[in-house]
Amino acid sequence: GRDLLGIADLSSEEIKNLLELAQQLKSGKLAPKCQKILGLLFYKASTRTRVSFTVAMYQLGGQVIDLNPSVTQVGRGEPIEDTARVLDRYLDILAIRTFAQKDLEIFAQYAQIPIINALSDLEHPCQILADLLTIKECFGSVEGITLSYVGDGNNVAHSLLIGGALMGMNVHIATPANHQPDSQILQQAQELAQNSSKIVVTQDPIAAVTEAQVIYTDVWASMGQENLADQRIPLFQPYQVNQELLSHADSEAIVLHCLPAHRGEEITEEVIEGKQSKVWDQAENRMHAQKALLVSLLGLS
Ligand code: CP
Repeated sequence: GRDLLGIADLSSEEIKNLLELAQQLKSGKLAPKCQKILGLLFYKASTRTRVSFTVAMYQLGGQVIDLNPSVTQVGRGEPIEDTARVLDRYLDILAIRTFAQKDLEIFAQYAQIPIINALSDLEHPCQILADLLTIKECFGSVEGITLSYVGDGNNVAHSLLIGGALMGMNVHIATPANHQPDSQILQQAQELAQNSSKIVVTQDPIAAVTEAQVIYTDVWASMGQENLADQRIPLFQPYQVNQELLSHADSEAIVLHCLPAHRGEEITEEVIEGKQSKVWDQAENRMHAQKALLVSLLGLS
């Protein structure tokens, strides 16, 4: 089956088509129906991804089964190879949130149904589809837009780098020295960007945002790193998205955050609640973008 383990599993043409489909689904111009069943196997907490996938599937006429590891045998050590082959016989499509990209690869190897990465240590491709949709709504297209990501070079930064490069965007990343994006991901983004866009990695948040139309940030201590928060917060403080940082960017620039937000840490109250913030549209777009993804992976369009 066709999987979405990372955003580069889609071509730029396919992403373009998905964004158009998402807009048609959002406006109600298209309302395909199905009787398919989506499984959600989430090893980590989630509000947006879980609820937006569930509502998207319900709106398509399908159903959702919550495969929380605490109530399935995966939580008691049943091998992924076995779980994948069994779920393959029951479900039509499976979204997984896991600590390890490797788990997704094993699922994809042992199950024929489409496997969707609903957040791993390496990438968050579903988030980036919603981000691109939000940028397209605000600016008419994504090509040529400069997005500046400020903060931790994490899984969201990785998918933004690759997704942005695929779509001909310029991606500027500002992180502390030892928190830069994974070097392989960076190389992949640079290769994809070629002559159509520019990837910039810096430690200077002001330099990163100067030409930005989109300023993006994410949590500094993600799930599993909470015990490191005391060390990380002072290190990341210069990378806070606040009014002072925004004053260095275009006054029409929009601010995105994949949420959940930590006000006073990676973003200030004033900015997230301010007129440049599009975070609520961005969160809503998770549902439309993932509905388009389900329609596409299930072959409904
Ligand atoms: N942005 C995001 O993935 O949110 P959740 O963790 O709530 O799903």
